[in-house]
Amino acid sequence: MDYVLDQKTGLKLPNHLAIILDGNGRWAKAKGRPRSYGHLIGCSNLEKMCNIIGDRGIRYLTVYAFSTENWKRSAEEVGFLMNLFRQYLKRLLRSARKRNMRIRLIGDRTGLPSDIQEIIRILESETASNDSMVFQIALNYGGRDEIERAVTRLAEDARLGKLPEGRITSEIFSSYLDTDGIPDPDLLIRTSGELRISNFLLWQLAYTEFYFTEVPWPAFSEEDLDRAVEAFNGRDRRYGGV
Ligand code: FPP
Repeated sequence: MDYVLDQKTGLKLPNHLAIILDGNGRWAKAKGRPRSYGHLIGCSNLEKMCNIIGDRGIRYLTVYAFSTENWKRSAEEVGFLMNLFRQYLKRLLRSARKRNMRIRLIGDRTGLPSDIQEIIRILESETASNDSMVFQIALNYGGRDEIERAVTRLAEDARLGKLPEGRITSEIFSSYLDTDGIPDPDLLIRTSGELRISNFLLWQLAYTEFYFTEVPWPAFSEEDLDRAVEAFNGRDRRYGGV
């Protein structure tokens, strides 16, 4: 695989970077503030980091913003997050146009409030031909849920005789996932110290390098990104071969 080199550091950049945005709540608590404050600052940090990541030349960015399990949080917190997503997605249309960025949402959007589904529809259709960067946001996303939905549609297509005879290949299966057409991540960053993937991109992370940092998402900076890219450069990437 040919990687784009970072203009600033000369290091090779991952083609696709995925991030598990974690630690908003703990970051706020440590400051004696409510969890909602952590989400607010986490949100503005995402806006800042997304621009930095795009400016560096990374072509694909995917972030885990809300999982299928996150509905179990208090009604107050879920309500706050939905409102934050609503405002953020509206602002995103303007910056996506300005930056020639394509927006895609992954996850089960049918479970989201209907006005957010409408904002997503507009965001995706209005940015569909933008080609400087693809920014994917996982909302109401779970890796197992994505696989369940993919298999359900695949089984229906098989029943209707729409699939070729014989083996269901990885390529055919991948085309039923929410990430259809998007290359798999090269690097996954998880902030805030937890060492697990929490049902994120289960199929797509098969050969991805993982980078875990103690830094909570609201405090994650450009220097932290540099550290992750540096670690990525130190890895000897293998794809199952020797
Ligand atoms: C994890 O922190 C964060 C979330 C579940 C929500 C992520 C949301 C944002 C970063 C806001 C911006 C995102 C978008 C797309 C607008 P946590 O609450 O799990 O923190 P904790 O583990 O310390 O409790």
